[in-house]
Amino acid sequence: MSGAATRVALREALAETTQRLGRAGVASPSVDARALIAEAAGTERPLVLLDDLPAGFAAQLEQLTARRERREPLQLILGRAPFRRLMLRVREGVFIPRPETELAVDLMQAHASGPLENLVDLCTGGGALAASALDEIPTARVLAVEIDPRAAELAAENLEAAGPGRGRVLRADLTGDPGSPELAELAATAPVDAILSNPPYIPPEAVPRDAEVLEHDPHHALFGGGEDGLEVPRAVIDWAARLLRPGGVLIMEHADVQGPAAQDAATRAGGFDTVRTAGDLTGRDRFLVARRAAGDPTPGSERLTR
Ligand SMILES: C[S@@+](CC[C@H](N)C(=O)[O-])C[C@H]1O[C@@H](n2cnc3c(N)ncnc32)[C@H](O)[C@@H]1O
Repeated sequence: MSGAATRVALREALAETTQRLGRAGVASPSVDARALIAEAAGTERPLVLLDDLPAGFAAQLEQLTARRERREPLQLILGRAPFRRLMLRVREGVFIPRPETELAVDLMQAHASGPLENLVDLCTGGGALAASALDEIPTARVLAVEIDPRAAELAAENLEAAGPGRGRVLRADLTGDPGSPELAELAATAPVDAILSNPPYIPPEAVPRDAEVLEHDPHHALFGGGEDGLEVPRAVIDWAARLLRPGGVLIMEHADVQGPAAQDAATRAGGFDTVRTAGDLTGRDRFLVARRAAGDPTPGSERLTR
C-alpha cells in the first residue's frame, strides 16, 4: 500500500470506528478509536507518520472495536494503563487505576517530613501507587497490602517491574483482627514513613453508571462496606495510626462528599496532629491528609481544613 493509500485507509478507519464507538455510548469515541487503530497498526507513533499498515490490520481493528463497542474498558483491551511515569499491566478482574489517584504521590511528597524509605500501600489493587512510589523514590521499599489474589498477583508483577527487589505484596484483609497472623507482616513494618491508599469507598446505594465500571471493576474494589462506604477506609486510617512514625503521613483517597467523615475517622483514631482534606486538580475534596504527631508522645488531634 502506498503512503497516500495508507492515509486514506486510516482516515476511513478513524471515521468509522469513531462513529461505531459513539453509537455504543463510549464517552471519548475519537480518542479511543485512535488508540485502537494504533494498537491494530502495531505502532506507538502518531498515525499521520505511518506509510504502511500491517497485514491483518482490518481484521485486528474489527476485533478490538467490537470489544470496545461492548463497553469493555480501553485499558483492558490494550492490557495496559498509564499511571504517572509508568505503563502498568492491567488485567480483567482487577481495578483499573484512575488518573485522579495519581495526585496521592505528589501529596505524600509535599506533606512528608524526613526520609521516605519505608512505605506502605493499603488496598493496592494492581499496585499503581506502590509501583509509582518505587519508581519515583529510588531509596523506597514498599509493602503493598491487598485482599484479592488476582490483584495481589498483578501488583507483584507491577512492583517488580517498577523497583526490582524493593516491593512486597501481602495478601490480607485489612478489616480483620489486627493481631492475626495474616496481618503480622504489616504490623512488623512499623515505624512507617508514609502510607498511600486508594481503598474502596463507594456507599452501597451509589451504583456507578458506566458499564465499564459496573461490569469490569470488581465490586469489592468499589464498595467500601458499611452504610457510608467507609468501613475499609476506617480500617486503613486505624492501621495508619498504628504504623506511622512521628511526622509520618497518610494520604488516602475518598469520594468528594466524604471529607468530613474521613477527617472524623482520623480524629477518632487519634495520634495525628494534622488532619486535613486536600482537593484534586479540579478542586474537589478527594484526599485525607493525616500526619502523625511529631515528637509528641501523647499527640492530640487538630482539625484543619483547606
Ligand atoms: C479502589 S481499588 C484501588 C486499587 C489501587 N489502589 C488503585 O488505585 O489502582 C481498591 C482495592 O482494595 C482492595 N480491597 C478491598 N477490600 C479490602 C480489604 N478489606 N483489605 C485489603 N484490600 C481490600 C480491592 O480488592 C481493590 O483492589
